[in-house]
Amino acid sequence: MKIAMIGTGYVGLVSGVCFSDFGHEVVCVDKNPQKIEMLKAGEVPIYEPGLDALLERNVEAGRLSFTTDLAEAMEGAEAIFIAVGTPTRRGDGHADLTYVFAAAEEIARALTGYAVIVTKSTVPVGTNRKVEEIVRATRPDAAFDVASNPEFLREGAAIDDFMRPDRVVVGVESDRAKGVMGDIYRPLFLRDFPIVYTDLESAEMIKYAANAFLATKITFINEIAALCEKVGADIKAVSRGMGLDGRIGNKFLHAGPGYGGSCFPKDTSALARIGQEHASPIHIVEAVIAVNDAVKRRMIDKIVDLCGGSVNGKTIGVLGVTFKPNTDDMRDAPSLTIVPALVGAGAKVRVTDPQGRREGEALLPGVTWVDDAYAAADGADAVVILTEWNEFRALDLRRLAGNGGSRVMADLRNVYAREDAVKAGFADYAAVGR
Ligand SMILES: NC(=O)c1ccc[n+]([C@@H]2O[C@H](COP(=O)([O-])OP(=O)(O)OC[C@H]3O[C@@H](n4cnc5c(N)ncnc54)[C@H](O)[C@@H]3O)[C@@H](O)[C@H]2O)c1
Repeated sequence: MKIAMIGTGYVGLVSGVCFSDFGHEVVCVDKNPQKIEMLKAGEVPIYEPGLDALLERNVEAGRLSFTTDLAEAMEGAEAIFIAVGTPTRRGDGHADLTYVFAAAEEIARALTGYAVIVTKSTVPVGTNRKVEEIVRATRPDAAFDVASNPEFLREGAAIDDFMRPDRVVVGVESDRAKGVMGDIYRPLFLRDFPIVYTDLESAEMIKYAANAFLATKITFINEIAALCEKVGADIKAVSRGMGLDGRIGNKFLHAGPGYGGSCFPKDTSALARIGQEHASPIHIVEAVIAVNDAVKRRMIDKIVDLCGGSVNGKTIGVLGVTFKPNTDDMRDAPSLTIVPALVGAGAKVRVTDPQGRREGEALLPGVTWVDDAYAAADGADAVVILTEWNEFRALDLRRLAGNGGSRVMADLRNVYAREDAVKAGFADYAAVGR
């Protein structure tokens, strides 16, 4: 099976590399010539654990290659995947489909024989039909089908998620396209991973509904955490006690500084817009978006309170700025709300992150970057744990607290316990929901 993958970002690159590892012949295309140059040189433009080795193995086996030329990539391809970005459109919160539609037009112009055009990008209901219309309008003669194949991988665990998915969702409406999609995912089907075949609209909706549900779960526990602080309950115990209920499950029940990242903020926003446009508002998701914004602001207040009511002139060491550990992705990270607010309030902010600096430097003006947690804490008035990288989970708290006895810690990921922090020499400690 020959596959063309359009877009070599977090999803396209991981999907392309994993499909080639299934044994398919994959050509990955990107508009960005620097990305393609890097990939041709065997370098991975993003940080995703394990991706470099898998990429190397499949390039060496001759199954995986990279180009900026879509027509070349599409030669003989039976499936053409669209994995370009669908960011939030400025102004109205809707998904910006410019890149998807542009890719559809480019595909239409380069189509030769029959191919299935598969949308992997997260797109609003109805988009696959529009892709079909665009291709049909440009090439009324062409033989093709469209398919919706939303992606559920998580950055930081993307390869394992792709290779061992909870399910694969495929929206298709012709037997021929279903056959092609079945061949592509046969290695997973043979290992009993469920493949859910459905219509185009349901496949598109499954992705938004799943992401909105997970964002709701996080936001629910964050709101309960705020109440725990008021009533003297401990969110860690509450989450555990709730999560052991099989109907609830323990995932996505960790209180923190609010969700961020490349998916939840834009997908909740797009789903809310879709609901409004169809006069069927999704009130729960609208509330989730508002509450999540409030959660992030509550974290700023928490840090300021811990610093005695003002951070003006104070030095604050921030540990972790990526939206979660094991990725370099900074899109919509809570740090992008919290850190600028501290800088704006007059704090001198020192930041450390194992992978976040390359993206983060331009996004967080006015901060100083340092190499590790101890350098961030050195001489600081406060230490803030914003992203729970493994590097920050077993720190020497005595060393972090320093000798002065006046440093405080805001542990926004509930990594440590208050008594340990105080025993180690922190003057005060604040967590989330405890
Ligand atoms: N990042 C995730 O964790 C994740 C998970 C599931 C689904 N998704 C969805 O997958 C899609 C892609 O997300 P991403 O994070 O990989 O985006 P990304 O921004 O990392 O990558 C998109 C890539 O597409 C390229 N591109 C855009 N238009 C192109 C064109 N016409 N031809 C060739 N290349 C083109 C860009 O240069 C870029 O490299 C989005 O719809 C997103 O919602 C993302």
